[in-house]
Amino acid sequence: MKRTRDLALRHRAKSVLPNGMYGHQATALLPETYPQFFSRGQGAHIWDADGNKYLDLMCAYGPNLLGYADPRIDDAAIDQLRKGDTLTGPTAVMVELAELMVDMVSHADWAIFCKNGTDATTMAKTVARAQTGKRIILVADGAYHGAAPWCTPAPAGVIEEDRAFIRKYEYNNAESLAAAVADAGDDLAAIFATPFKHDAFTDQALPDVHYARHARRVCDQTGALLIVDDVRAGFRLARDCSWELIGVRPDLSTWGKSIANGHPLSALLGAEKARKAAGSIYVTGSFWFSAVPMAAAIATLQILRNSSYLEHICALGTQLREGLARAADTAGFSFRQTGPVQMPLFLFDGDPDHRLGFAWSSDMLEQGVYVHPWHNMFLCDALTRSDINRVIRAAEKAFEGLATRIDQLEPHPALRARLASAPT
Ligand SMILES: Cc1ncc(COP(=O)(O)O)c(C=O)c1O
Repeated sequence: MKRTRDLALRHRAKSVLPNGMYGHQATALLPETYPQFFSRGQGAHIWDADGNKYLDLMCAYGPNLLGYADPRIDDAAIDQLRKGDTLTGPTAVMVELAELMVDMVSHADWAIFCKNGTDATTMAKTVARAQTGKRIILVADGAYHGAAPWCTPAPAGVIEEDRAFIRKYEYNNAESLAAAVADAGDDLAAIFATPFKHDAFTDQALPDVHYARHARRVCDQTGALLIVDDVRAGFRLARDCSWELIGVRPDLSTWGKSIANGHPLSALLGAEKARKAAGSIYVTGSFWFSAVPMAAAIATLQILRNSSYLEHICALGTQLREGLARAADTAGFSFRQTGPVQMPLFLFDGDPDHRLGFAWSSDMLEQGVYVHPWHNMFLCDALTRSDINRVIRAAEKAFEGLATRIDQLEPHPALRARLASAPT
């Protein structure tokens, strides 16, 4: 595949961006053939800076839920843009959107809108402390809640005090949660939980109901707030908070990524009980009231309510999981597919440094299918059954190819260093 423009952009970026790129968009921990820069997205496809086209199973790390450049959403955004976006005050769409979200999400009675998932999770932490007057926040070990000092996975620039009252427990382990709660004494402000375990580099796990109910019970007993971080999984599991599926209602939930189908918007939703605390904290941002992403969110949510997008991505996810399992089996690979079918993560057995995963993913990329070797992926409504068949056919070839060169594979140097030095 042609990579001239991508390489030229990388070269220029090196002198004006730290390391040439930062955060989750840095491709340093991906196979070296993966493009860094993109030029276009349409439906379920993306084009890199050189014009190479891929069927995209990453969906912009989540925001693309209905399809890139969906005119039903983008036309609503453009209409609003013509009227006004960032004004001296908010527009009526803010109230309409809050009404819509509160109507869709069972536990929620109010909403605060912001820009990124990190804004929402950080605000949830502040609301919980304002509500309880207590300090300790429990988070599952390895869970990602954003890139602020209290939760970023990288230690550089973070001081001990930033995390002084952040304590860990093991996801899906009620005993571990109980021990962390006991340790917190009477200083517990909140328990954070992602809807399912979706940490990078490791198998995903669906939530254990016993653990989730235990978290709810503890919060009821102590007055701490239960926070479900639905930033990544929101509206991909349910047309409601994801833990509605297991009958556990949080006090707060955090949203982002998909709620405006790629337009920049996130939200903190809360129950009546936390309304006063939410109203007592000072939270804002120059762009938090912009009307365009809110208009896009209204259009998105209306489609989510009135279409079978969820059933469609679940059916495609099942087709993909079954097809890949068959392909791996035929080629003799033990290939783990974990998490909900619409948010799969793929790992190979016996592949501690991910060399098999990297080689397989690179081969998929060469065949025009963008998969991720160590992060969960996302299915979008714009995918079709024949797209999934294409992915499966590419996978068959990639597994076959892998079998022939398995002894020649080398570990990726940057990933090897990271695996050796950092917690996942
Ligand atoms: C569960 C979860 N919470 C919070 C965040 C942070 O969201 P953002 O990157 O929009 O700040 C993410 C981002 O991936 C996430 O997956």
